[in-house]
Amino acid sequence: MAQRPDTDRRPKTENEREYQMSHFLDINTTDPAALRQMIDQAQRMKSARQGQPKGSPDADLPLAGHMVALIFEKPSTRTRVSFDVGVRQMGGETLLLSGSDMQLGHGETIADTARVMSRYVDLIMIRTFEEATLLEMAEHATVPVINGLTNRSHPCQIMADIMTFEEHNGPIKGRKVVWSGDGNNVFSSFAHAAGQFGFDLTFTGPQTLDPEAVFLQEARAKGVTVEIERDPVKAVTGADLVVTDTWVSMHDPQSARERRHNQLRGYQVNAELMRHAKPDALFMHCLPAHRDDEATSEVMDGAHSVIFDEAENRLHAQKAVMRWCLGR
Ligand code: CP
Ligand code: NVA
Repeated sequence: MAQRPDTDRRPKTENEREYQMSHFLDINTTDPAALRQMIDQAQRMKSARQGQPKGSPDADLPLAGHMVALIFEKPSTRTRVSFDVGVRQMGGETLLLSGSDMQLGHGETIADTARVMSRYVDLIMIRTFEEATLLEMAEHATVPVINGLTNRSHPCQIMADIMTFEEHNGPIKGRKVVWSGDGNNVFSSFAHAAGQFGFDLTFTGPQTLDPEAVFLQEARAKGVTVEIERDPVKAVTGADLVVTDTWVSMHDPQSARERRHNQLRGYQVNAELMRHAKPDALFMHCLPAHRDDEATSEVMDGAHSVIFDEAENRLHAQKAVMRWCLGR
């Protein structure tokens, strides 16, 4: 569990003494018992809201009086809206900030930004390019910091994905998850989750776009099977879950687009590929998607697909993450 670094020598305010806080930086650096507790709480909170208008407050208001900063250095629809709505449902308030509009984008150090922001807000969610920015923010902030996506990982997405899988098909422990496509930041968080939640993971994609080996080794060290299989049909055979993502991520140069498409075309998730997965297999995509590139519309809108449940569950999963961060 990433605890608040005690770098701030000023006396703690009432608000800070009141609770224990934790950063949510990655799935592999968060205690598995805490991850399980967050998924279960997210499910309970979702059930409790059934039939309620989206803007109505939760019965308890664990973030009442809390101010949450949502910082974006990259575009976002789901992360931005789900965090904003989630905070409001829990009784808190948000500040939506674009990195380029802040002094952060004009030379102020991340450390100074973290110290300053910590005097104004109770929680910081940041979507950034370099992982180093997130880590430096967490090191110097005296309030919890949440990873809203970096070039290397996207833990909030995978918390929603685990919740979605279990909601439809029961415990993910011991299941076979197959990722087809680019070994990118979203894949990395699946690899982190494989180790922490105990599921097997197969990556299928071109060697040039393999994930970082460290993510695979770390999951294997936790006792799960993690494989690379170049043949997508062999990879998907017997899968409980098939996942893909965009072939060109926000941090990838647009100049690489055509080359990536040529390399990845054979890894498109289409109805023929899904035929090799288990009959009740699920299909996931974090969105935004490029329909008929990485996955066909037939699959995205078909019987296996749970892509919009995934998007909804970002809201519920992140509410549980924020509560955990704040010890609420
Ligand atoms: N899946 C996801 O993080 O979507 P956004 O980029 O829209 O936030
Ligand atoms: N891999 C994608 C995920 C977007 C939510 C990206 O980083 O652009």
